[in-house]
Amino acid sequence: MTSGLQQPASRPTWTVGDQPGREMIAILDFGSQYSRLIARRVRECRVYCELLPATTTLSDLQRLGAKGVILSGGPDSVYDENARHVDQEILGSGLPVLGICYGMQLLAHQLGGKVEPHTGRREYGPAEIHLLPQESGAPQGVGALFTGVLTDEQTSIPVWMSHGDSVGEVPPGFVPIARSTSGTLAAMADGGGHIGIQFHPEVRHTPQGGELLQNFLFNVCGCAPNWTPGAFIDEAVGRIRERVGYDGSVICGLSGGVDSAVAALLVHRAIGDRLTCIFVDTGCMRAGEAEQVVATFQTHLGIPLVAVDASERFLARLAGVTDPEQKRKIIGEEFVRVFETEQQKLREAGDYRFLAQGTLYPDVIESTSASDAAAAQRIKTHHNVGGLPEQMPFSLVEPLRYLFKDEVREVGRELGLPEDWVWRHPFPGPGLAVRVIGEVTPERLDTLRHADMIFIEEIRLAGLYRQIGQAFAVLTPVQSVGVMGDFRTYSSMVALRAVTTDDFMTADWARIPHEILARVANRIVNEVPGVNRVVYDITSKPPATIEWE
Ligand code: XMP
Repeated sequence: MTSGLQQPASRPTWTVGDQPGREMIAILDFGSQYSRLIARRVRECRVYCELLPATTTLSDLQRLGAKGVILSGGPDSVYDENARHVDQEILGSGLPVLGICYGMQLLAHQLGGKVEPHTGRREYGPAEIHLLPQESGAPQGVGALFTGVLTDEQTSIPVWMSHGDSVGEVPPGFVPIARSTSGTLAAMADGGGHIGIQFHPEVRHTPQGGELLQNFLFNVCGCAPNWTPGAFIDEAVGRIRERVGYDGSVICGLSGGVDSAVAALLVHRAIGDRLTCIFVDTGCMRAGEAEQVVATFQTHLGIPLVAVDASERFLARLAGVTDPEQKRKIIGEEFVRVFETEQQKLREAGDYRFLAQGTLYPDVIESTSASDAAAAQRIKTHHNVGGLPEQMPFSLVEPLRYLFKDEVREVGRELGLPEDWVWRHPFPGPGLAVRVIGEVTPERLDTLRHADMIFIEEIRLAGLYRQIGQAFAVLTPVQSVGVMGDFRTYSSMVALRAVTTDDFMTADWARIPHEILARVANRIVNEVPGVNRVVYDITSKPPATIEWE
């Protein structure tokens, strides 16, 4: 049994006040499972980047002001009939290009080198790459990616490989830079900013991957690490003002989570009291949530807030509904109806035609398919407030649309959100309705609220709350026999879920010490009426999701 939890990956903290403005790196997605990770790593280097479809053209990049391009890996072979290619004009434009895995093979294939189809043998997992001595005639700067990464005595570094095909012949003007122990060409460059690497610098199993990416961003593309919270806030405030205009007003639904809180703070910074926050008590909130939201926003932050107790109408519509997707739809619809009613009430006070939402970048890119550029605009229903209806009298304002969760936290801190909010675990828009499996009734919600409160309380007491990405209880529809004192019971089973995660896109189950789990289980069966069994979920995401439904 481990005594603590897996530590979150460390990263330098954003500094405030660096020069505003931002440079942009485009990551073209050829379908690799690691594409999103590349985006996160680039952001960790304090450089703004966007994940874009493989079909992105040079003029798209020019419009976006990209300073460099990263071609992701992907499942294709360059010889496949439908293999995705990079716009040839990008390769001839002089923009620095880092091709990773399939991206390297594309560089080779499209610039006149040769890719060797794999002969049944794939290289997958940890590998060692060896830097090759460069001949005196080699173009200057070909080793830029590796500058400072190896010590004087070192000639090799550990990396993570995951490929079938490999580059057999480098294109004209390129030189081989490194080979893996098995002889695969691991890196090549042309000295003009085109670099191909067969391994994956974005995964943690390539320990020096961050330094390699920094070399590309700072030394090859000439970017500066100026993507800071201060820079983001300045830019977001400008955009919100532009979108909302001088007369528009905004409603922001607070869910109790960090994302909507930070979205509200940003909008408030931009337009002041033309923002009104609405906290809708759906009856599916956690214990003490409503009071906490009101106290923080109204009293502590001084932001106008309307608290609406709509629990009766939400619970009436949820009665008898067991399908989670239907629950989300109902809740999304009801949310908007409540917002509409409040919008009418606020009519005298302003033109509340905008609705602010805390949509994050992972929500946007989780639904992006590399082959379908239009999909980039689509957001999974489950990451909206339960799936907003198509017909609604609001335009959306989504100031966090390009941020990762940890960036949102840093922005929140910068905007004065209290520390315990900054570190709050995420809470889904549909609330406990998706954690009560089966029918949502006031009694079953009470049971879950009570069990959840105990779980969170014990995690906090053990000092584990911050190390865990998200923890909660689930009320299952399973009933089973138990014994309490001299009596036989037939009661509900509660499941506990706690995960460690970097970004909620993947997650591992938290190794909470057994004695803490034991205490939680003991307290739940003793203190929560109607529960006689507690289980702990030990599946990771994937293949499971974080929520249970
Ligand atoms: P899953 O369950 O898909 O969840 O692994 C990933 C993260 O998203 C949260 N989540 C939601 N957030 N509305 C939200 O605002 C929703 O409908 C919703 N469903 C899941 C989940 O809690 C986790 O943090």
